[in-house]
Amino acid sequence: MAKTFLLLSLVALTCTYLAFAFEPKPLQDFCVADRNSSARVNGLACKNPSTVVANDFFFSGLHIAGNTSNPVGSRVTPVSVAQIPGLNTLGISLVRVDVSPWGINPPHTHPRASEILTVLEGSLEVGFVTSNPENRLITKVLEKGDVFVFPIALIHFQRNVGNKNAVAIAALSSQNPGVITIANAVFGSNAPIGSDVLTKAFQVDKKIVDQIQSKF
Ligand SMILES: *[C@@H]1O[C@H](CO)[C@@H](O)[C@H](O)[C@H]1NC(C)=O
Ligand SMILES: *[C@@H]1O[C@H](CO)[C@@H](O)[C@H](O)[C@H]1NC(C)=O
Repeated sequence: MAKTFLLLSLVALTCTYLAFAFEPKPLQDFCVADRNSSARVNGLACKNPSTVVANDFFFSGLHIAGNTSNPVGSRVTPVSVAQIPGLNTLGISLVRVDVSPWGINPPHTHPRASEILTVLEGSLEVGFVTSNPENRLITKVLEKGDVFVFPIALIHFQRNVGNKNAVAIAALSSQNPGVITIANAVFGSNAPIGSDVLTKAFQVDKKIVDQIQSKF
């Protein structure tokens, strides 16, 4: 009996520890980013709390549709610590996603955030791919009001599968989630990844690699 209790207590303790192993809580009310600071910290330095104003926690314009006139037919409008300095250290942010009919938000990952997305207008096919070796595609078509989650760091995408503009709002679990767009990173890096690497990686000949690289 006592042994079982001890074991259960240990399991509970371990779970508590795991629950706090991510996104540590801020150690103060807020740490509004001071972009002028030259201090090198993990994140952005705090400005003097006595000089903080409401606008440090404010952004306006998410009602405005993003310009989707580009080759992929989508636009992401971020509202992260770059737009709202008051988000610094808080571990959350927001984006608006506009996708024109049959456009895509191309495969990408957020290295520092999980994402929870809700569709406000239109229909979006969404999906993410699990890590190696399964690389399983988990996908679904979302309609207005539907909500979908993209786990941290996994490659995901959205595609408008309707004849009208799609609009979604997504929250991310970082004030600075970061984005790696797979095609741009792999084929559009600066300097380019050598074509000998890409021809073997993608099992295609150099002409195809050159052609794809020329698009980025
Ligand atoms: C940064 O510097 C600019 C120009 O000196 C000033 O207007 C601004 O208020 C400063 N920002 C902060 C957060 O201190
Ligand atoms: C949208 O982007 C395109 C391509 O960059 C540009 O030509 C067009 O003027 C933009 N439209 C608006 C309303 O800003």
